[in-house]
Amino acid sequence: MSNVQNYIDENIKTFEEELFELLRIPSISTDSKHKGDVKEAAKFLINQLEEIGLDNVQLHETPGHPIITAERLPHDDQPTVLIYGHYDVQPSDPDDLWKTPPFEPTVIDGRVYARGASDDKGQSFTHIKSVQSYLKTGNELPVNVKFILEGEEEIGSPNLIPFIKKNKDLLSCDMVLISDTAMFGEDQPSITYGLRGLAYMEVHVTGPNRDLHSGLYGGAVENPANVLCEIISKLKDEDGVIQIDGFYDDVEPLTPEMREAYKALPFDEEAYKKSIGLKAVHGEKGYSTLERASARPSLDVNGLWSGYQGEGAKTVLPATAGAKVSMRLVPDQDPDKIAELFTKKIESLAPDTVDVEVVSHHGGYPVVIDLDYYGLKAAAKAFGDVYDKEVLFSREGGSIPIVADFKKVLGVNSILMGFGLNKDALHSPNESFSLKDFHRGIKTSARFFELLPDFVE
Ligand code: BES
Ligand code: MN
Ligand code: MN
Repeated sequence: MSNVQNYIDENIKTFEEELFELLRIPSISTDSKHKGDVKEAAKFLINQLEEIGLDNVQLHETPGHPIITAERLPHDDQPTVLIYGHYDVQPSDPDDLWKTPPFEPTVIDGRVYARGASDDKGQSFTHIKSVQSYLKTGNELPVNVKFILEGEEEIGSPNLIPFIKKNKDLLSCDMVLISDTAMFGEDQPSITYGLRGLAYMEVHVTGPNRDLHSGLYGGAVENPANVLCEIISKLKDEDGVIQIDGFYDDVEPLTPEMREAYKALPFDEEAYKKSIGLKAVHGEKGYSTLERASARPSLDVNGLWSGYQGEGAKTVLPATAGAKVSMRLVPDQDPDKIAELFTKKIESLAPDTVDVEVVSHHGGYPVVIDLDYYGLKAAAKAFGDVYDKEVLFSREGGSIPIVADFKKVLGVNSILMGFGLNKDALHSPNESFSLKDFHRGIKTSARFFELLPDFVE
């Protein structure tokens, strides 16, 4: 093992250069202009997996972006770890707010700045480099390893869910290992045991057949922008409680034990506020910030458009207005059911002076992972060994839709071993990833493979 860890130390500069090569490919899954780039990122990874000595490396075409699988199964009597990651990234916009070009990785103060640096190219690459460090030093892997890398996570994994249903044998495993979350804090390793689900909606309001002079028509014609604002304002009350009938029906209440566990986490609310420039925290009455952001559902406008946005004043009454709304879900809420309840609520609020249309985008199920599982214990030990600090367990507010399906379809738990930080600015301008965490991530992955056989129950 020590020569594996030495190999990681000796080759870290090469690993970084390879990661930068991947980061230069603008694999934005949501934008059809970048379809070729997503494919190029897939090919880059295929080459990597082949070069490091994995077997059965395959690129599976889908109606969307490709799925990659690979494996190395040297043992009959050891567990199989399925490593999941995504090589697609979010769009880089607003581009003018980036201090360095989003697809030209730039290192500043030990952090690499680029879209996808943390989410999820940098984090998922750690496992490829860890496997390489075994195989290139003449060591066999201590456990069996499979990879599944997708290019559609940021658009809700539409083709991965049918893929795992159709390829249960190819993907059969004892656990899934994922690095696509954040640590609790800097130098504070943590394992994420809960993720929220998602229902993502769009609302369109259509009024007159053209934009109108707001002096000639204002007051006599329903304004779609006003209607949209009124509708949105009725979705939550002054206590932050979502006003959609049936919305909370399936929400699992927080038990006193769960609330104690939240209180025990070393969360610094002042630092939190400072880190994102907040005047004050805000949310559902009766819950703490951590609870609001991970164990309670939420509803937020993600995009809003209507009327004149340019410089100065233009007296115009807009013909249309629209909003994108995300709802983050917790166990046992069902994204399809929530999408339906949302649609009904919007329809009930729509005045008959305009047309209101609701569109449902992707969704994902929430998950909470069982903590009493040998794989998780091995992961916690490996993480703690490398970071020289005891691991915390926390739930997070983001979503990785496939995690619930790994449980439902393959019957296995996922270990969410994130090496990112909230300050990595995922989905925001100037996304970055600490190269120190990239290095420690590779070491943690290698240590996990080494420890896992001892933890099998
Ligand atoms: N890696 C994130 C999710 C995440 C980040 C979870 C940090 C916990 C901590 C993932 O790539 C992501 O952005 N997911 C989307 C899912 C959606 C597009 C279906 C999300 O949460 O918005
Ligand atoms: Mn991600
Ligand atoms: Mn993401």
